[in-house]
Amino acid sequence: MHHAYRSALVTGASSGIGERLARLLAAGGCDLVIVARRAGRLADLAAELRTAHHVQVEVLAADLTTPGGLRAAENRLADAGRPVELLVNNAGFGLPGSFADLAADGAEAQIRLNVLALVRLTHAVLPGMLQRGYGGVLNVSSVAGVLISPGGATYAATKAFVTSFSESLHAEVWRGPASTPSRPAGRSRCQGRSTRRSSRSPGLSRAGYCVSPERHSGGPDRRFLPPA
Ligand SMILES: NC(=O)c1ccc[n+]([C@@H]2O[C@H](COP(=O)([O-])OP(=O)(O)OC[C@H]3O[C@@H](n4cnc5c(N)ncnc54)[C@H](OP(=O)(O)O)[C@@H]3O)[C@@H](O)[C@H]2O)c1
Repeated sequence: MHHAYRSALVTGASSGIGERLARLLAAGGCDLVIVARRAGRLADLAAELRTAHHVQVEVLAADLTTPGGLRAAENRLADAGRPVELLVNNAGFGLPGSFADLAADGAEAQIRLNVLALVRLTHAVLPGMLQRGYGGVLNVSSVAGVLISPGGATYAATKAFVTSFSESLHAEVWRGPASTPSRPAGRSRCQGRSTRRSSRSPGLSRAGYCVSPERHSGGPDRRFLPPA
């Protein structure tokens, strides 16, 4: 996979889409911070990726629904000495069942992970990206966010938030002077790009879409990405 980033933090990298994205990024030469609760799975993945691709892989075992876990990830993202160029907000889950039968704590946990963690992690990483004039945020959304979803009302609503938040933030950042493309010289692995904000909706297309600020003029320009 050809991509523009030298370092990425991927949430939910212990399985599924997040693990796959971590593998693709590592194969492209990107150093990683991989985040999830299952430390053993993360450690195994990290060891495999270091050996296979000669990249640096940090393991951050954290429950992003807890204040402590979230703070650990926020602190890592805000560490100016070890800049993260791409944040992948992928960790998320849905609990099936009618809302009336769903435990309130279960509904809250979905919102904590799918919405609150995504917002806080984006907020932690964005100032550094704007200062550097470079970076990206990939928010994994869902087609559920644009559908009426009986049996999945809370999950669908969280994904509607993810898409709306991502689109608005993209427009906000792109309009600001801080988003003017400026890439430090002397970097080898990557192409120059400006700060970009995107949300991916598995199920909407074969590969979702990426909002491309470089091509923005008025409304968001949705450029379909090639399949991974
Ligand atoms: N698969 C689909 O068809 C589909 C469709 C639309 C959207 N999506 C979205 O795609 C994303 C990934 O889904 P997936 O299918 O790949 O799911 P998955 O295989 O269940 O992976 C979810 C990941 O999130 C992590 N995670 C769960 N709770 C966490 C918590 N409290 N703190 C930190 N990490 C946590 C899990 O790791 P641990 O258990 O180790 O913490 C795991 O790595 C989600 O946002 C989902 O809503 C998926």
